[in-house]
Amino acid sequence: MTNNNIYFIANWKMFGSVKSVNSLSKVISYSKIKKLKAKIIYCPPYTLIKYFVDKTKNSNIEIGAQDCHAQPNYGPFTGGISSKMIKDLGGKFVIIGHSETRKENDNKKINLKIKSALSEKLNVILCIGEKLIDKKKNKTKSVLKKQLLEGLKNLKNLSKVIIAYEPVWSIGTGIIPTENDLEKNISFIRDTLKISKKFTKSKILYGGSVNAKNIKNLMRIDNIDGFLIGGASTNEKIFIDIMKKSIN
Ligand code: PGA
Repeated sequence: MTNNNIYFIANWKMFGSVKSVNSLSKVISYSKIKKLKAKIIYCPPYTLIKYFVDKTKNSNIEIGAQDCHAQPNYGPFTGGISSKMIKDLGGKFVIIGHSETRKENDNKKINLKIKSALSEKLNVILCIGEKLIDKKKNKTKSVLKKQLLEGLKNLKNLSKVIIAYEPVWSIGTGIIPTENDLEKNISFIRDTLKISKKFTKSKILYGGSVNAKNIKNLMRIDNIDGFLIGGASTNEKIFIDIMKKSIN
């Protein structure tokens, strides 16, 4: 993998408080070093988006949300947060289809959410990935294909869509796929986009237990454009360590 424009996306899940915004300072300084040609994006909980946007104003860091409602604007949806609201806060990205949200979201709903995000010109990070049972039954490819094709149905312009391949069994477990499997599955995702005449330059990231110990090996895989990082991204020292190890 080249070191240029690698994505490091921090998915904070349901962690963080107003105080934790202070823990961005070192990452902000680090984001400014020339050698690091990375795109750093933080996706905190909705409640912290505005704090993160303000804190990172004069830096190279961008902010996103972890989900959005299928309705793009406003409406009588108690508890809902729309893509328009995320944009209003200064968010530029939104994670859609994370496995931790897929119980309430089938591919049809995910497709609507992507459309709503794109209508507000947000960048989408679409998460796809097989469960352990799918892997055991050799169904990984069919699962990925279905999630991709149904999630991206009727979308022609995918220039603002990033795909994050996150095997569900890898998330938070410390277990990552073998280099060979990862390379194969990422190529399969790329080929599926190509065959279905989707935007072929889409960035494809890997997510699931990325840490400072495995980043060097993960960087050896040619066709990955970056990483979606959960637990390890909430500790600024570790997050910086991961980025440092990605460049040397
Ligand atoms: P993890 O989470 O890095 O803690 O495994 C990744 C994710 O869920 O996006």
